[in-house]
Amino acid sequence: MDKIKWVKNEMPKTEDKYLPLMNQENMKKARKFHKSFPQYSETPLVELTQMADYLGLDDFFVKDESYRFGLNAFKVLGGSYAIANYVAERTGKDISEITYDTLISPELKQEFGQATFYTATDGNHGRGVAWAANKLGQKSVVLMPKGSTKMRFDNIAKEGAKVTIEEENYDECVRMANDLAEKDENGIMVQDTAWDGYEKIPTWIMQGYGTMASEAGEQIAKAGKRPSHIFIQAGVGSLAGAVIGYFSNLYKENPPKMIVMEAQAADCLYQSAKAADGKIRIVDGDLTTMMAGLACGEPNTISFDILKNHTDFFVSCPDWVSAKGMRMLGAPVKGDTPVTSGESGAVGMGLIATVMTDPNYKELKDQLGLTSQSDVLMFSTEGNTDPDNYRKILWEEE
Ligand SMILES: Cc1ncc(COP(=O)(O)O)c(C=O)c1O
Repeated sequence: MDKIKWVKNEMPKTEDKYLPLMNQENMKKARKFHKSFPQYSETPLVELTQMADYLGLDDFFVKDESYRFGLNAFKVLGGSYAIANYVAERTGKDISEITYDTLISPELKQEFGQATFYTATDGNHGRGVAWAANKLGQKSVVLMPKGSTKMRFDNIAKEGAKVTIEEENYDECVRMANDLAEKDENGIMVQDTAWDGYEKIPTWIMQGYGTMASEAGEQIAKAGKRPSHIFIQAGVGSLAGAVIGYFSNLYKENPPKMIVMEAQAADCLYQSAKAADGKIRIVDGDLTTMMAGLACGEPNTISFDILKNHTDFFVSCPDWVSAKGMRMLGAPVKGDTPVTSGESGAVGMGLIATVMTDPNYKELKDQLGLTSQSDVLMFSTEGNTDPDNYRKILWEEE
């Protein structure tokens, strides 16, 4: 069995210029926008008290994104908010004037005209972009990497998008989608990652994810707790940058311990942290992991800056960690609410359980400072987005 690897973040700190992107004021704007959707409701923050007891923690909270907008994953928060900001900018409005109803109104459509949104995706982001484009009466083109499953393809095609599965990995699909968008005079690239020169849209996407983080922040406070540890998974790291950025702003003094987890096959942030010089490392190749949402080998440049300054540990997790987490959340300790958590959603559960119970990882447990006083928060970022594989892992695997 491959081992979990970890590294303490000792990368040099920067001036931290991106942290204010995730401040309270920006989160309020994103939240207000998402609240205007008829599909909106806060997703549950599930308190697994029996599980906490079993693992030897004080409390354990799981944000369950399988309930998000009927789309089974958090991702739509980013794409929809980026598209709304783009429409606002193009029509000379402030984002605070834009609601779901204004966005779908014939008046706005006339003012804005016709556009095609291009993107690359492992599944969830593309589904969110296609869904938002469809609602707005706009077109979308979605490129998926080699190995993408039929179910994820069908869910995007259902939203009226032109979808293809390419013979390339995720990062290459991003480049291909960007080329297509550049060649189309009405084309706009809506990608969930940033690179030098492409920062505005991914910033809006990260702020859109802030809706999830700020809900969780409020929900945990309502439960009378303050997280001591936050575990968040990363593909390109936009999500991790958003969540860690939000909580670093919220708890400026004495922030919780922040832990970023990746699929071992695509652990570009872990590799960057291991090199410790503050420069990005890229992981190339097929990036084969069942954690499809985490199969990205090139970090988001904005998010990387936030992560450098505010992450405590980077952890590289083999697939078994996630499979274990899926089973544990699906069938937790008696008395706790089950959470349907997919391949990219459950890695936090598998990691926390392993660290708390397996003596081979005692050193990591000690370094993280996980004790019976710890109040742990993790994000189950997707439900069973690939139902066949979900069933196989929970019901059939030996
Ligand atoms: C379910 C799920 N969780 C986590 C992530 C990771 O997000 P990011 O690529 O921003 O790191 C993704 C990305 O697609 C995802 O689909």
